[in-house]
Amino acid sequence: MTEHSAKNMVSVSAALSAHQETFDPVSVVCGEHGSFESFGTLYVIGSVRREVWTKCPSCTSEERDQEREKRELMAKERSDANVFQLLSQTAIPPRFVGKTFSNYRVESDKQAKALAVCKEYAQSFDSCLNTGASLILSGMPGTGKSHLAAAILQAILPKHVGAYVTLMDLIRSLRDTWRRDSTTTESQLLNRLTHLPLLVIDEIGVQYGTDGERAILFDVLDRRYREMKPSILMTNLAKDDFRTAIGDRVFDRMTEVGRWVPFDWPSYRIQARKEVKNA
Ligand SMILES: Nc1ncnc2c1ncn2[C@@H]1O[C@H](COP(=O)(O)OP(=O)(O)O)[C@@H](O)[C@H]1O
Ligand SMILES: [Mg+2]
Ligand SMILES: [Zn+2]
Repeated sequence: MTEHSAKNMVSVSAALSAHQETFDPVSVVCGEHGSFESFGTLYVIGSVRREVWTKCPSCTSEERDQEREKRELMAKERSDANVFQLLSQTAIPPRFVGKTFSNYRVESDKQAKALAVCKEYAQSFDSCLNTGASLILSGMPGTGKSHLAAAILQAILPKHVGAYVTLMDLIRSLRDTWRRDSTTTESQLLNRLTHLPLLVIDEIGVQYGTDGERAILFDVLDRRYREMKPSILMTNLAKDDFRTAIGDRVFDRMTEVGRWVPFDWPSYRIQARKEVKNA
């Protein structure tokens, strides 16, 4: 549009006579809500005349309520779907979904301490993200390491979407990228693993395959260390064996940014069974 024609438009619209008039209210009967006063307005724009009368106020507010409810429901569905989707992205095993800080039972000071450390970690996760502060949860099976790690992953949602893997899964999925028909390359997967806001690696034990496979763990942890990304490692090994398992260099780096959290109390499963027997 040229400047000239734009100017013409302005003068045309100014020339259009536009005004409105109000009518005296009339009494109207709504089939549902009975009689009400309807107010009318006549809009005159050039040669166009339009009469608008207010509708039954009860119907209008019902409509508005319904629309609001619909909007709210849709928003809730969206956010539920979102959390559900985010939860599935974290790959927390189904049996640990819903395991939280509040349903972790505390029966000793040591357990209270471990719970407090994990809770505090989740609460201050924004700063862990900048420093790469990590946790190493170490203890016998059934002491609730996976439970508390799942609680941390869930507590930082939806802001931060971390991921849970067992060491075996991690090795397997990296090894799968070596296959000729793989759609992901090893470096793509390593990249994704390196940049996750939180990576939880469960079940780090002694018996995990070849040196080549062990090198995968060193590689992932080393990359995350260099990027200052936090990780949570879980193991049923004591400190010395854990050092041997992950190698001196990675061990030193992990303990530099990571806090060693001992889970040295009896298995919850045994405890729960005893309680059932004694009940
Ligand atoms: N202190 C606790 N309070 C409530 N449930 C617990 C507690 N410790 C363990 N559990 C439950 O016992 C089961 C085994 O715990 P898990 O987290 O798998 O142990 P770990 O990873 O140390 O082997 C899980 O279902 C877990 O929720
Ligand atoms: Mg576990
Ligand atoms: Zn009505």
